[in-house]
Amino acid sequence: MAEDEILLPGATDLHVHLRDWEESYKETVSSGTLAALSGGVTTVVEMPNTKPPIDNPEALSKRLELLESDSYVDCAVHVGLPRELQILSAMRREGAIGVKLYPKDFPRLREAFRAAHDQSLKLAVHAEDPEALVQDPVGPRAEENGVKEVCKVASRVGNVRFCHVSLASSVSAIAELKSHTNGVSFEVTPHHALLSCGPDYRQLPPSLNVRPPLRRECDRIAMFETLRNGIADFYATDHAPHTASEKESQNAPPGLRSLKFAYPLLLTELQDVAMACRLYCERPAAYLGETKGKIEPGMIADLVVFRTRTRPDGQEPEANSNEFDIVETGPFVGRRLGYKVEQVYKGGVLSYSSETGPLAKRGRREHSA
Ligand code: DOR
Ligand code: ZN
Ligand code: ZN
Repeated sequence: MAEDEILLPGATDLHVHLRDWEESYKETVSSGTLAALSGGVTTVVEMPNTKPPIDNPEALSKRLELLESDSYVDCAVHVGLPRELQILSAMRREGAIGVKLYPKDFPRLREAFRAAHDQSLKLAVHAEDPEALVQDPVGPRAEENGVKEVCKVASRVGNVRFCHVSLASSVSAIAELKSHTNGVSFEVTPHHALLSCGPDYRQLPPSLNVRPPLRRECDRIAMFETLRNGIADFYATDHAPHTASEKESQNAPPGLRSLKFAYPLLLTELQDVAMACRLYCERPAAYLGETKGKIEPGMIADLVVFRTRTRPDGQEPEANSNEFDIVETGPFVGRRLGYKVEQVYKGGVLSYSSETGPLAKRGRREHSA
């Protein structure tokens, strides 16, 4: 490796919405996981709000087949809450690792917690209260009430991962829950840690529409701080792509595309390589029970070679180096990255190089050749 290169673990992103199926015009499993791989993310956990949704054994089995044939990275799946909770056991046997709850599932929160617990499935929650969402879809009340409600139920059962936490008050409520309950964790996204809405939260450009929405600067700083000090358990993108024309329209659908730059962005903004790896590699891999996420003997060799702008003597990086990506589209447009993915190894095999692009899909035979 060159002097200006560092070797880090591949990242595990616990929260992505790969599209495909009826939404293949937004992204496919192939294009989305290639974005992941080329950004140093070697494992992703999928959410079930695909079209059609992954909330029954047939859809799950089709999805797992598609992931097996088309994905460039390792994948795991959270299923949606089925109407008949008994089918969760079949989905668990089929390979689901967890259940994802949405605001629409709030009336069934207690039974969902119980069922996930009984089936040894992980539980991830989009904690926005549906009634408050109707009254004000972009105000903070929905998350305030939603987190409170989930904390109440979780204080009995534990086993909950709060997705995309975006308010300082949520961090306090979750810290309180953690102080007396096991199995509680939360994710912070790049957009909630790095972007805010300005003084009027109703005045955001439609292209930045996302759920939960971007918050005021004080909350943005609080979220960034949870990453800096490791109080957040995980950094996870909530990658949810739409087409450029959809995002440019006045009624832009919620969701941001962020998988390709999330890892270099975290390294650049945090300026703490060890903490970045804890949040995006080590802890999420451990949460999934995978022997990866750390560079140690016995660990699966999912590895990323980054070129870094920080010179080995610790001096300021070259200001005009044009070797590094400036993000060209999406929510982080214009940001200069201090890290560039040069090579990615999956299980010790070179799978991506910045010079040649991808070398093999995960599920394809050529991979093990
Ligand atoms: O902004 C969002 N987009 N929030 C969600 O919860 C879903 C996601 C999507 O799938 O588009
Ligand atoms: Zn969500
Ligand atoms: Zn999501």
